[in-house]
Amino acid sequence: MAPSPSSTANAPRAISDIDALRAQVADFRDTGETVALVPTMGALHEGHLTLVKAAKAAADRVAVSIFVNPAQFAPHEDFDAYPRTLDADLAALAPLDVDLVWCPTAATMYPPGFALRIEPEGAAKAGLEDRFRPHFFGGVATVVAKLLTQVQPDVAMFGEKDYQQLQVVKQLARDLDLPVRIEGVATIRDADGLALSSRNAYLSPAERAAAPLLHRTLNEAAEAIRTGGPVADALAHGRATIDAAGFALDYLEARHAGTLAPVATMADGPIRLLVAAKIGATRLIDNIGV
Ligand code: PAJ
Repeated sequence: MAPSPSSTANAPRAISDIDALRAQVADFRDTGETVALVPTMGALHEGHLTLVKAAKAAADRVAVSIFVNPAQFAPHEDFDAYPRTLDADLAALAPLDVDLVWCPTAATMYPPGFALRIEPEGAAKAGLEDRFRPHFFGGVATVVAKLLTQVQPDVAMFGEKDYQQLQVVKQLARDLDLPVRIEGVATIRDADGLALSSRNAYLSPAERAAAPLLHRTLNEAAEAIRTGGPVADALAHGRATIDAAGFALDYLEARHAGTLAPVATMADGPIRLLVAAKIGATRLIDNIGV
């Protein structure tokens, strides 16, 4: 497809007005182009940029949304401290030939009188993130439903890094009959194995040095299970390793990769191992397939 003026490698067009968003997406649609959406909360890193590259491969036009969604933070969580780096984010997107960046204000997303909350069940009640962040998936489902309705993409990309979120979003799209394909993208890691995350910016140098233990422990547990070890033993050993390293473990679990139901043996799989732990004040999550 011939590049249009808006798809040259300049800082992408940031739109914060819903009518302008609709007009821009309608322009794409009028010429029969397909649209991919990459929802983010900004503070973009290589993990997000990999989603953008996957989006470019999946559709003619790519929209990235940047919105730190208050509805998915509990009052005691880091909404105020969450990094907001819009200029750097736009600069990071510029070489990737993104067609539009949707940056609504909180007042645009949740205007006075806004009175809807989508409370997902199923994957959202798997007893993983939801056990420690009961507020989270309702906020995610509500904002993702809005973003998918606003942009109406053909496909939307979500990272496997947030594995339970990915399953919740797939369920949301299915249950609301949204005409969108949800695609998962493999987790991008630093060379030492730590999954990239906007929250890694909170880590002190010592915490950053310790953090890859989570991924190492996942790998060891996966290897133990793959080579015939009992799932319960692999988890018990992994939990002890994480505790001994000084993390405050929220969970280390083996679940069915599709349903997130607990699994006892390899035969119950495919298995996904999922972990969440705090190091100092920072909560990290990770997961891998067995
Ligand atoms: P955020 O944490 O900014 O993540 C945006 C997307 O990037 C998510 O789909 C997430 O899974 C993906 N991602 C983050 N780190 C990644 C990594 N290391 N490798 C691959 N993908 C990665 O997740 C959210 O925002 C929000 O909950 C959102 C879906 C935007 C709703 O507000």
